[in-house]
Amino acid sequence: MNKNQRWTTGNIPDQTGKVVIVTGSSSGIGYETARVLASKNAEVIVAVRNQTKGDKAVQQIKAQHQDVHVKVMLLDLASLKSIKNFADEFKQNFDRLDLLINNAGVMIPPYSKTEDGFELQIGTNHFGHFALTGQLLDLIQCTPMSRIVNVSSVGHRGGNLNFDDLNWEKRDYKAMRAYGDSKIANLYFTYELQRRLTQSGSDLLVTAAHPGWTGTDLQRHSGPMQFMNKLFAMPIEQGALPTLRAAIDDQAQRGDYFGPGGFMEWNGYPVKVSSNKRSHDKTIASKLWDVSEALTDIRYNLN
Ligand SMILES: NC(=O)c1ccc[n+]([C@@H]2O[C@H](COP(=O)([O-])OP(=O)(O)OC[C@H]3O[C@@H](n4cnc5c(N)ncnc54)[C@H](OP(=O)(O)O)[C@@H]3O)[C@@H](O)[C@H]2O)c1
Repeated sequence: MNKNQRWTTGNIPDQTGKVVIVTGSSSGIGYETARVLASKNAEVIVAVRNQTKGDKAVQQIKAQHQDVHVKVMLLDLASLKSIKNFADEFKQNFDRLDLLINNAGVMIPPYSKTEDGFELQIGTNHFGHFALTGQLLDLIQCTPMSRIVNVSSVGHRGGNLNFDDLNWEKRDYKAMRAYGDSKIANLYFTYELQRRLTQSGSDLLVTAAHPGWTGTDLQRHSGPMQFMNKLFAMPIEQGALPTLRAAIDDQAQRGDYFGPGGFMEWNGYPVKVSSNKRSHDKTIASKLWDVSEALTDIRYNLN
């Protein structure tokens, strides 16, 4: 694609025959990603923790597009049991997975823990997706031209994992820093998974994306941020484009990261962007991998 051209949903070819999971697709960027891929004839699994919200999302997509294949499946990323149930049910019902889009996320909630005792942000945003991906990887790997997309954030730049206290039990909880930790973890996971797959001889592509500043429910825990959304945030249709590009662009390379190309990467059309130097630290990424396997008890079979 010419550098000056804008990447839009018009660049997405027909997706007939493809099976896609989008986590956290009851609202925001996940919903829009699911809607667009369904409109391009992919079979889309709306993977959500709330059945009512999921049903509403599917209804809305079907009201807008005729003859689409969209289905709700329950997935609570704050519960390793729910993740296992979801993966087991999915594997019973599908024999391929073309695209796994790890989109769901929480930002700056009051301090709380997942069912398994992880701090909510790193637990949902990272450990949950690590466990989900590990349990679906066999199926993804046996699907030709498949891809995994992890949704990170500009906020990864504020992340700096403290392995002595990943769950903020020994320090005063700093919500924004914990969010940054979870979002840099998404990038360590992306790059480390890609390295391990490549070393094992797999040609599976792992990419990442961030939606800049997009007006969604993500900022629900911050009044000032909700107010600033009105001034700075992109519409959701545009905010979903980096994720869609990371999922679809056939020029994408291993470990590519896409985000909006405008001011501070807050807005604009999706382009390839760079994450910070810390996110490329292979020692930290490998350590996080080992810790994630140990804490989730999900072992990746990559040799
Ligand atoms: N909006 C932005 O400006 C921005 C910027 C940078 C990065 N991001 C990233 O973009 C992604 C999507 O966020 P968004 O902006 O679209 O926010 P959103 O509208 O709040 O969507 C987040 C989705 O994640 C789901 N979710 C939360 N916890 C979950 C759990 N335990 N299990 C399953 N699903 C869960 C939510 O479900 P419920 O509806 O049930 O709560 C919701 O559907 C996130 O990873 C976020 O970090 C967004």
